[in-house]
Amino acid sequence: MAPEFICGRGALELAGRYARNFGMKQVLLVTDRGVRAAGWAGAVADSLTEAGVSFTVFDAISPNPRSRQVMVGAEVYVAEECNGIITVGGGSPMDCAKGIGIAGSSRRDILGFEGIDRVSVPTPPLICIPTTAGSSADVSQFAIITDETRKRKVAIVSKMIVPDISLLDPEPLTTMPRELTVDTGMDTLSHAVEAYVSNASSPMTDVHALEAIRLLTSALPAAIAEPENLDLRFSTLLASLHAGLAFSNASLGAVHAMAHSLGGAYDLSHGRCNALLLEHVMAANYGAASDRYDRIGAIIGGGETTPAERVAAFRRTLGITETLAAAGVREDAIPALAAAAYADPCMVTNPHNLTCEEIERIYDDAL
Ligand SMILES: [Fe+2]
Repeated sequence: MAPEFICGRGALELAGRYARNFGMKQVLLVTDRGVRAAGWAGAVADSLTEAGVSFTVFDAISPNPRSRQVMVGAEVYVAEECNGIITVGGGSPMDCAKGIGIAGSSRRDILGFEGIDRVSVPTPPLICIPTTAGSSADVSQFAIITDETRKRKVAIVSKMIVPDISLLDPEPLTTMPRELTVDTGMDTLSHAVEAYVSNASSPMTDVHALEAIRLLTSALPAAIAEPENLDLRFSTLLASLHAGLAFSNASLGAVHAMAHSLGGAYDLSHGRCNALLLEHVMAANYGAASDRYDRIGAIIGGGETTPAERVAAFRRTLGITETLAAAGVREDAIPALAAAAYADPCMVTNPHNLTCEEIERIYDDAL
């Protein structure tokens, strides 16, 4: 399943028209303070006002959105008698908006929907306007919410939360700080690689995964060098879209399972966690999908090196040179991290059946 996509400069300004087309009378506009400060939430609000659609803004959202934030948003959704959700922002506001849609329509705690296809109540119409090029929450049937009490990330996977419309406008990407561009770009690459080697991949998801890798590895370094270039920014957004179509159907693997575990325990940037794990998981998985990893390596290029080494070289050119230890991860935390990663639903589609000990070794390699 995929949303309707509206691509190109100025797509954001169509939010009001699409809200009206959907019969939205009172919209919950879900965003965060950074996106608000950059002016993008205001631009969407103006479009709604012009179309005569009322709205309430909800922006009390942190990176790695928490279940409590979802429940507060759901209370606002119900109290304001909203009948539609528009979200403008990166993965955190978009995932939170999906959670609000589920909790607001079911009137139940969001953490009760963990897992695959557990949402049975229809959710409100959802329009996504991404301001980063990486999470693919604007395409996917995934929402990742942090259970702050148990310090873990909960994956909610359901066709009910595939957005109805995504407005893919390159302009909001221009206000991203360099680090966010890099981290979200490495998230895109991880989505594409994991979907391509997933044991649930198909010829259809392969097309999207390979195109995402091709586009991202050429456009991301160029977009970092020229952050205002809208064509390059759009290519990174398109790469994220292709990667999203691939992984929303083929699912992910050990990189994401292990990144979710890290993000729940340490509140680290999701894209950065992936960037620090990807090459190590590729090396550990290589024997189980060598042809596929070789194809990925051929796209990236790099002489007499393995696909994992090519990914490592790529992330170094983006300026990611630290290790997990530098990010604050301690060696004695690894057994608990590995146990949580082992139980993550993303691990099911990893091409190699990793044991808990093997996962511990990968964390150790990345340390
Ligand atoms: Fe991701």
